Amino acid sequence: MAKIKTIYICQSCGGTSAKWQGQCPSCQAWNTLEEGLPEVSSNTRFQGLAQSLPRQKLSAISAEDLPRLSTSVEEFDRVLGGVVLLGGDPGIGKSTLLLQALAEMSASGMNALYSSGEESAAQIALRAKRIALDAHQLEVLAEIQLEKLLSIMDTVKPQVLVVDSIQTLYSEVLSSAPGSVAQVRECAAQLTRAAKSSGICVLMVGHVTKDGHLAGPRVLEHIVDTVLYFEGDTHSSFRLVRSIKNRFGAVNELGVFAMTEKGLRGVANPSAIFLSQHAEMVPGACVLVTQEGSRPLLVEIQALVDTAHIPNPRRLAVWA
Ligand SMILES: Nc1ncnc2c1ncn2[C@@H]1O[C@H](COP(=O)(O)OP(=O)(O)OP(=O)(O)O)[C@@H](O)[C@H]1O
Ligand SMILES: [Mg+2]
Repeated sequence: MAKIKTIYICQSCGGTSAKWQGQCPSCQAWNTLEEGLPEVSSNTRFQGLAQSLPRQKLSAISAEDLPRLSTSVEEFDRVLGGVVLLGGDPGIGKSTLLLQALAEMSASGMNALYSSGEESAAQIALRAKRIALDAHQLEVLAEIQLEKLLSIMDTVKPQVLVVDSIQTLYSEVLSSAPGSVAQVRECAAQLTRAAKSSGICVLMVGHVTKDGHLAGPRVLEHIVDTVLYFEGDTHSSFRLVRSIKNRFGAVNELGVFAMTEKGLRGVANPSAIFLSQHAEMVPGACVLVTQEGSRPLLVEIQALVDTAHIPNPRRLAVWA
């Protein structure tokens, strides 16, 4: 397959450069060059097709509510929809959560496929064994080439596919390395296109950068239907899955989990974990009600004040 060489496009003036530079050679702006694909289409090329393109009246399109698939992980269902991008810090439990959800789905008779570019099939099997998953029916694949994955989607036609992670996938046609902006964008776009045309539900894992954003281009978040962030404190076993964007449901929904030896367990009554049970009122502690997505949560705020021994007093906030 012929490779397409990526170029660098100035986000300010649209000028291009064959290699990355700090300054745009056209408008002299700094740090505006981003990797992209060269423009190949011309406006006149498709003019003859205008009449043959199938257009439909909106009223003529069947708009039945498609049945929603359930992962049997109630706290996860709460935040799901369509083509999903799950982002989160390293080691937070992304692979664990998706493996658990897929195992439940395959056990209930669905055709589910877990494709990992980060771990070998043996590592995935080890995790499934550690958390005692019933994953006999679940199919696992260690693949990083997009074209092969697309052909598997076409032939195997799984109902649900997990891609762990989008940064490890690469397309044969692009010359840049896996994880580069062009590769991530192209792989996500192609996967989404294949998912929409075949009705496969695709869940992609995305890495998060040091400053907490999903690594790769921001357009990634525009391409997919649902963006989820998996958050948590390394000192606490509680994990939150927050929906940032959802084309099929309420945004800012929250799923609450606890990481245990046997994997992630949904917390059915999150208010209970945010409250320390006092028999009587204690100074410095106050309970408030906050609305997270479609459910109210009770959260306890505790304040502890002490004399500062440094010139500038500090305010520190932690959550548990
Ligand atoms: N034996 C164990 N007992 C309890 N918890 C464990 C055990 N082994 C791993 N874990 C938990 O599982 C987490 C790793 O989960 P997982 O591999 O799903 O994360 P991830 O988000 O996919 O990470 P990465 O970004 O590296 O792919 C660890 O951080 C730890 O909390
Ligand atoms: Mg992982």
